[in-house]
Amino acid sequence: MARSSLLRADETLFRDPAAFEFTFVPEHLHHRDAQVRELAFLIRPALRGGSAGSAVLRGPPGTGKTTTVRRVFREVTETTRGIVPVYVNCRHDHTTLAVYRCIFEQITGYPAPPTGWHLDAVKQRIAARLHDDGARLLVCLDDANYLIPAGTYNILLYQIFRLYEKWDVAKPGVFAICSDLALNLYAEADERVRSVFHPLEISFPPYTIGEIRDILTDRVRQGLYPGVMPAALLDRIAEIAAGEQDVRVGIDLVRLACLRAETDGRRRVTAGDVTEAARAVGSPVLAVQAAGLSVGERALLRRIAERSQEGADMASGAVFEEVQDYLPVGRTTYHERLKRLAEAGFVDLVPGVGRGRERKVRLRYDPAEVAAVCTGAEEPRIDRQPGPARNPGVRVRSVSRGRNPPHLSKD
Ligand SMILES: Nc1ncnc2c1ncn2[C@@H]1O[C@H](COP(=O)(O)OP(=O)(O)O)[C@@H](O)[C@H]1O
Ligand SMILES: [Mg+2]
Repeated sequence: MARSSLLRADETLFRDPAAFEFTFVPEHLHHRDAQVRELAFLIRPALRGGSAGSAVLRGPPGTGKTTTVRRVFREVTETTRGIVPVYVNCRHDHTTLAVYRCIFEQITGYPAPPTGWHLDAVKQRIAARLHDDGARLLVCLDDANYLIPAGTYNILLYQIFRLYEKWDVAKPGVFAICSDLALNLYAEADERVRSVFHPLEISFPPYTIGEIRDILTDRVRQGLYPGVMPAALLDRIAEIAAGEQDVRVGIDLVRLACLRAETDGRRRVTAGDVTEAARAVGSPVLAVQAAGLSVGERALLRRIAERSQEGADMASGAVFEEVQDYLPVGRTTYHERLKRLAEAGFVDLVPGVGRGRERKVRLRYDPAEVAAVCTGAEEPRIDRQPGPARNPGVRVRSVSRGRNPPHLSKD
């Protein structure tokens, strides 16, 4: 009897659901050979008893920065015990103590020391461990831009680089990742830090549609059973993700489309599933954008979304009056936040007719979706002053595209 096209209740389309989580580190890293080579180049001296170099990894969200570092770190761990790679997510850990606790945990393999511990004691244990093992420290500060509003960026970099002086260990290498293209991490470093921090800039350009397709094809192979995702639909998904310049949109679309098929008890994804998923996936993209706003900006955006839903007057003055009940801020701050929401692409400020130069606030997305992501995004961020643009002090090596797989060999 031919296999039914209907799925039994106990069957699933997902061979490995974890393959669709954003933290998933794929077996094969596509189209990032050049960046991996740059990182390997910086790490190699540490394999020969020298110090690792440092880097600033720059590129918009969803360009594989985190995944690339994680892949390289995994290879380092498998290759040598002489280098200890430590990964810090600065979105979550941005105080000095939190960062050191994170380093401590990964170096010693023990749970982080109790909060009562003095910072110096934590640092000392870290250095002692490195010294005893004769190991070199390699720290990835992922989303390091979060350290700047937290006021810990310079102090952390300085202290990490200077660990070796006081405790007689090798100079650590630091890979600082930044998704905020308006920010230059090297320029944010103060004089003292610049005297020890000479990062190589490694850029991560958005993936092309073909590259996205390769990544998605591989992910489908790992995460779904054969025959579930028709090639033509995967093409369409790659196209949408390329339009958003974010491979994560593609990964999420595949997952959502499959979930729909599975819920309907079908063995194969249809064009309708992809369309429906695309409608819903607007939110994850919005959520990522909303997480990049400050708390105040997001609160304003939420009120704007709620007012749009209620069909209330959207003249910017009327919005200002009303938000006073929720967000008691001055007119200048209000206008700054509004301007920032417009720059971030959430709203348009449409010049109104008649009443002077008053503008109307028009939401670019579905109000219900915007309100939902504003409520959902709980990552707080402090308002940031716009930083200086590129700094000529950064060494920029052009990243060439190549086919060769990365090597961390000692020769
Ligand atoms: N080159 C790649 N090969 C395979 N998967 C990738 C690649 N680049 C990104 N991904 C996947 O895309 C998602 C986002 O990548 P991520 O490294 O988090 O981007 P970024 O840190 O630049 O925002 C992850 O799920 C990751 O597995
Ligand atoms: Mg990342």
